[in-house]
Amino acid sequence: MLHSPVLNWLTEKVRRLSIGTKISGGYTLALGIAVIGTATGILIGEQYYDQSRMYAEDAREEIRLLSRLETTLLRAKTHQQQLSNLLRKSERRQEEYFHIIENYAELNQLWSEFKSTEGQTKNSKVKEFSEEIRLVKHILQNHEKTIDAYLRQVEVVLKQLAQPKLTTEEYKGAQKLILKLNTGSLPLEIDHMSNDVAALTHLAYKDYEKEEAKSSKAQRLRLQIIGVSMFLSVTSAIFLSMYTSRAISQPIKKVTTVVQQIAQDSNFDRQVPVTTEDEIGTLARAFNTLIQQIAAYIQELSQKNQQLLQTHEELSQTLENLQQTQVQLIQTEKMSSLGQMVASIAHEIKNPVNFISNNLEYANNYTQDLLELVHLYQQDYPNPTPLIQHHIQAIDCEFLAEDLPKILSSMKMGTESLRQLVLSLGNFSRLDEAEMVSADLHTGIESTLLILNHQLKYGIEVIKQYGDLPLVECHPAQLNQVFMNIVQNAIDALQSAVDQQYKQIMIKTQAMTSNQIKVGIRDNGLGISQESIKKIFEPFFTTKGVGKGTGLGLSISYQIIKKHQGQIAVNSQLGEGTEFVIVLPIKQSICPSTPI
Ligand SMILES: Nc1ncnc2c1ncn2[C@@H]1O[C@H](COP(=O)(O)OP(=O)(O)O)[C@@H](O)[C@H]1O
Ligand SMILES: [Mg+2]
Repeated sequence: MLHSPVLNWLTEKVRRLSIGTKISGGYTLALGIAVIGTATGILIGEQYYDQSRMYAEDAREEIRLLSRLETTLLRAKTHQQQLSNLLRKSERRQEEYFHIIENYAELNQLWSEFKSTEGQTKNSKVKEFSEEIRLVKHILQNHEKTIDAYLRQVEVVLKQLAQPKLTTEEYKGAQKLILKLNTGSLPLEIDHMSNDVAALTHLAYKDYEKEEAKSSKAQRLRLQIIGVSMFLSVTSAIFLSMYTSRAISQPIKKVTTVVQQIAQDSNFDRQVPVTTEDEIGTLARAFNTLIQQIAAYIQELSQKNQQLLQTHEELSQTLENLQQTQVQLIQTEKMSSLGQMVASIAHEIKNPVNFISNNLEYANNYTQDLLELVHLYQQDYPNPTPLIQHHIQAIDCEFLAEDLPKILSSMKMGTESLRQLVLSLGNFSRLDEAEMVSADLHTGIESTLLILNHQLKYGIEVIKQYGDLPLVECHPAQLNQVFMNIVQNAIDALQSAVDQQYKQIMIKTQAMTSNQIKVGIRDNGLGISQESIKKIFEPFFTTKGVGKGTGLGLSISYQIIKKHQGQIAVNSQLGEGTEFVIVLPIKQSICPSTPI
């Protein structure tokens, strides 16, 4: 395994390289292996090849020399034998003579060549060619004399045959000489030598073949080295390309994965890992800076958003307060002027009504007395004067006596209702009461109904189901205002239901617990839509036309009930009717309410 300090060192080095250096380094390495391998292959192959070629060339030269030597030796023998046959034929003898001269010269030259080259060449390859060297030595040692003897004898023969025409003496001498040349030990020696040369030629052939084989082996070796270096270069190129692409792609993948995760979770606390010192490392660092900046921006944004929300909240609150203040102002203004007017009118009417009501009693008594007197007169004076008689008839005294008490009685009733109305007006406009008082809610409801009586008496039946209510601690005028608003709305709803036959308002009161009472006011009018029901307690919400509705009634009522620490709720069904339910505490134990 390569898990060694060297590998760690290498990994650390590579980590610090730029991508460009990694790629070019990889290419350089792969190409370097290819070039060095090929060059080495070519050089080594060439060297071996040249050497074997040189040896082969030497061997060829040697073969050529030896072959010629062998041929010359053979030819010498042949020419001598032929010469003995052709001695008498001067022309052919001459021809043969020249052949021998030629052969003599060649042999001489070849022999000296053999001596010089063979001695030299063989010295350089002592070990390899020991057999050959032995043979050369043998030839040089043993056949030197043969050659010398042969050459000397040939020289003698040649001298003898130098004349174109031979005397008999000369002819016999020549014949003797040629015979000696052909029959003595010399031909045998030459044969031996010829055999040795042939054996040497054979060895040289072998040499030659060996060197030829070596040179083709050198060719193969060259190809093999080139092939191996190519293979190594391709393998290293593949390995390096894989390693380089991994070294480049791995950190990119890591960066991409983390960036994707950050984008998915919006978790800007994370950081991209910086695993290399190259361009990807720079990219990762740039990403980290970007992520930090985004996180800072997001934080800043959320702070600004928070501030905005807070401002929005504050503004909404301010707006709501403003609306409430506006409503309160309108209401206070309206109620104070309306209440003051109602109170002053009630006060102004109260005394004359009391005056009429009180005097009506006397007027009735006096009328009774006067009618009694008239009756007595009629009894005591049955025949009055014609003038009186005529007046009695004119005024229809009998009818008058009968009708006057009735008129007085109805006048009494009228003044009584007037007194009640004045009382109700007084009750209704009890605005001056800043402190809460214990009041009978039924009285308030009754005065409200009385004030609205002119709208109720035609076609709307009011059903009252009053429970046994204790006195309730409250601002009576404000609660009357609430009853008034609700009943007025019920009347409006019933009046707008033109086709409806039976119109009814039911008012139900009951004590719920020891400190809670409930007032329910229900009509069987048109009802309220789901959409409107959400808004009916909002200031200025109205479905009535301009001049008819202000949209303030229920919002004021809501505020009043809230100030009384009570609750107001509405149940309504379109086409069936509407019910308002008010729950109030009997005693305001916790915090004293302030008038609105
Ligand atoms: N009993 C009811 N039946 C039907 N609608 C009602 C009833 N009471 C209140 N509403 C609806 O509530 C709205 C608000 O009432 P309110 O605050 O008194 O203002 P206004 O009477 O001036 O319109 C009315 O316009 C009406 O649409
Ligand atoms: Mg109203």
